[in-house]
Amino acid sequence: MTDAIKTIAVLTSGGDAPGMNAAIRSVVRKGLYHGLKVYGVKRGYEGLIHGEFREMSLGSVADIVHRGGTMLMTARSQEMHTPEGQAQAVAQLRERGVDALVVIGGDGSYRGAQTLAAQGVKIVGIPGTIDNDIPGTDLTIGFDTAVNTVVEAVSKIRDTATSHERTFLVEVMGRTCGNIALQAGLACGAESILVPEVPFDLEDVISKLQRGHQRGKNHSIILLAEGVGSAYTIGEELRRRSGFETRVTILGHLQRGGNPSAIDAVLASAMGGKAVETLLDGQTDMMTAYVNQEVVVRPLEVAYGPRPPFNRALYELAGQLSI
Ligand code: F6P
Repeated sequence: MTDAIKTIAVLTSGGDAPGMNAAIRSVVRKGLYHGLKVYGVKRGYEGLIHGEFREMSLGSVADIVHRGGTMLMTARSQEMHTPEGQAQAVAQLRERGVDALVVIGGDGSYRGAQTLAAQGVKIVGIPGTIDNDIPGTDLTIGFDTAVNTVVEAVSKIRDTATSHERTFLVEVMGRTCGNIALQAGLACGAESILVPEVPFDLEDVISKLQRGHQRGKNHSIILLAEGVGSAYTIGEELRRRSGFETRVTILGHLQRGGNPSAIDAVLASAMGGKAVETLLDGQTDMMTAYVNQEVVVRPLEVAYGPRPPFNRALYELAGQLSI
C-alpha cells in the first residue's frame, strides 16, 4: 500500500442502525468529491473476507439519506474472529488496491477493525449502533432514532395501559447498557426505569406503584433494559408480589428500524465526511466521535477502553420526577 490515499472501501458491520445509510452516502460522495475511487463492501466483514466489493458512484447512494437499515447490508461475522479470516480480509483489500477502510458499526466491528489495523490496514471507524455504548463518543449513529421510536411506542402502550388500568413492563434493547432505557424512560415519564448499571429492589418498584395507586393512579409504565434480565420473569414476579394486573411488551428489533431522525442523519453525514478527511490527512487507526457537540477524531484505541460512567444523575432525576 502506498502512502497517498487513492482508493477507499466502506462497510457496515454488526447490528444495523438508522443513519448508517446517511454515513455510507457521506463517505462515498465525500470520497468521490476528492477524486478517490470508492468501493462498498457488502455484508460487513463477511463480504470483505469473501470479496463482495462494488465500486460506488454518485448515483449508487441516491435516495438513501433518509432511509433506515443499511444498503450495504451487514452481518455478525464469525470468520473475522479467526486468523485465517483476518488474513483473507487483508488479502482482498490488497488485491483491489484499497488503501484504507472505513468501518461503520458497534463495538464488535471495532474489534475487527483493530485486527486489520494491526496488519497495516489504514482504518477509520464510525460509531454506528442504537446502543450508544461506544467509549470515546457522546453519541452513536442510530441512538437518537431508537430512543424516539421507544418513546412513540410507549405513548401508544400508555393509551391501553390507562384504559385497562394495567401495569406494563416494556423491555428495550441496549445489550448490557441502559442508555436507551434511561433516555426513553425520562422522555416518556416512565414510573420506573430498570437498568443493568444500577441495582434495584423489586419491593421499591412495587412500593412506588402502590403509592401511585393510593393517589388514584391506576396505570404504570416500567421501562426495562434488556441487560437486566428476562422481562417475562420480572413481569411475573411483579404481578405475583404486587397483585397489579401486569403485561409485558418486548419492543425488540422494531427499535433498529425506521427512518433516521434529523439528528442521526446529520451526525452520520458529518462523521462520514470527517472519516474521509481524516484519511486524506494521512491519519489512520482513528474513530470519529461526537464530543462536546462537535464531530472530532480520536485514536481508535479509545473505543476499546472502559465505557463512560452511566449518567447516574439523570437516572436519579428520572426517579425523582416519577415519584
Ligand atoms: O447492538 C445492537 C443490538 O440491537 C442490541 O441492542 C441487541 O442486544 C442486539 O443488537 C441484538 O442483536 P441481533 O440483531 O443479532 O439479535
